[in-house]
Amino acid sequence: MDKIIQKTKNFVKEALAGDSTGHDWWHTERVYNMAVFLAQKEKADCFIAELAALLHDIDDWKFNQNAEKTGTKKARDWLSSLKLDVTTANHICQIIDEMSFKGAKTQKNLMSSLEGKIVQDADRLDAIGAIGIARTFAYGGFKGRPLHDPTLPVVLHTTFETYKNHQGTTLNHFYEKLLLLKDLMNTTTAKQIAQERHIFMEAFIKQFLDEWNAKL
Ligand code: NI
Repeated sequence: MDKIIQKTKNFVKEALAGDSTGHDWWHTERVYNMAVFLAQKEKADCFIAELAALLHDIDDWKFNQNAEKTGTKKARDWLSSLKLDVTTANHICQIIDEMSFKGAKTQKNLMSSLEGKIVQDADRLDAIGAIGIARTFAYGGFKGRPLHDPTLPVVLHTTFETYKNHQGTTLNHFYEKLLLLKDLMNTTTAKQIAQERHIFMEAFIKQFLDEWNAKL
């Protein structure tokens, strides 16, 4: 099993090389480490959570033009090459399929297994806190978004299309997505971690706006 995990790490590292959207190998490694932690705390199947965490972004629509059409193709091809049993491979693909975030109001918590809930929590935890802030500004730069524009309203998305095509500001993205994530955590352990990271983001936003408005 350790061998399978190591081989998969190498495969994903190569597949994500050169990504600059915040979904690089280091994101995957953080999600993987958090998934291992949560799986132990929540007494889930660690092997399933580990593989799903490692493969969760390799078919992602955010940096793969055809990902909406390919779905979990890369993940599935890789799992077939490992010759895992069908039930395990299907479970992992189902997790990857169920977990991508598609706009604030469009997302219901659909994860059908504990391992899925854990990997989704691990992925969402990496979107908040200090790393969440850093990733959000990096991604905003990649998309050419302004840091902040006080004249632009916050838009809560009701469909995947409006979320995907939305050209907002990075600061608004905190209200449109990041500050909503703590209430979307599935597991008790993740809820506790999210609460701390949430408070940190609120403090950051307050400081940001104070500086923006020359409020000392
Ligand atoms: Ni991810």
